[in-house]
Amino acid sequence: MGKIDIEYYQSWFAQYVQQYLAVQESNRLNYQLKLEHSLRVRDRIVELGESLNLDQTGLALCQIIGLMHDLGRFKQYAEYNTFSDLITGSHAKISVDILNENKLLQNLKKTQQEIVLKAIEYHNYYRIPEGKSAEILLFSQLIRDADKLDGYYIVTNDHDQRRYDLEGLSQDKYFSRINLEALLNSQPIEWKNVRYQFDRKLVMLGLVFDLNFKKSFELIKENDYIKRLISQLPDTCEIRRIGRHCTEYVRTKLESGRR
Ligand SMILES: [Fe+2]
Repeated sequence: MGKIDIEYYQSWFAQYVQQYLAVQESNRLNYQLKLEHSLRVRDRIVELGESLNLDQTGLALCQIIGLMHDLGRFKQYAEYNTFSDLITGSHAKISVDILNENKLLQNLKKTQQEIVLKAIEYHNYYRIPEGKSAEILLFSQLIRDADKLDGYYIVTNDHDQRRYDLEGLSQDKYFSRINLEALLNSQPIEWKNVRYQFDRKLVMLGLVFDLNFKKSFELIKENDYIKRLISQLPDTCEIRRIGRHCTEYVRTKLESGRR
């Protein structure tokens, strides 16, 4: 078995997305945003893979996982008119089903197929299931970090996409106490505890506690994401405390010896 033919995946993906961009004119922006997200995540996961000195095969798997992780978003929106997994079931599972139905991974080794499918399936789990192989764990961590980093990019830069984050949430300007406590305990926030718009912002802060790689923390620091998110929340003593806690957590991670 030779080199992974990454161009095959790129052109398949481009064609797959094109049918949505072409047919559903009224929803074009929604598909466009997901397309751009997928491309940025693809670049980001490769950057993380390079920071770990992965070989060419590892980087090719990164490209496939990054590009395909949200494949299900297009079908999800076309069929249900929403990006809410609570309504449609996991979009990650839809991505996996599309890859299987189209036999897209058949040219990869069995172990590589398993890595791609599991990393994509787990990319939006609250936690990666325990007991998985070292490789499945590694690539799952890589896509989760890359996806989260793009989430930070979106909520601090991209105004078009920000509105989806607030879909179905109370417009009241409150946040839930349980989420403040989670953050102060260095825990990510659970979706079931997200009720208000500000909870959604707290979720973003909590993602920092689920990042895995030094490069990810460097990107958080370089882009000043913690401060920029805190500035979108009310200027209270509790929020300032959360900001200090998250910043300190990132600093500690950067100082640790791990890659
Ligand atoms: Fe996703």
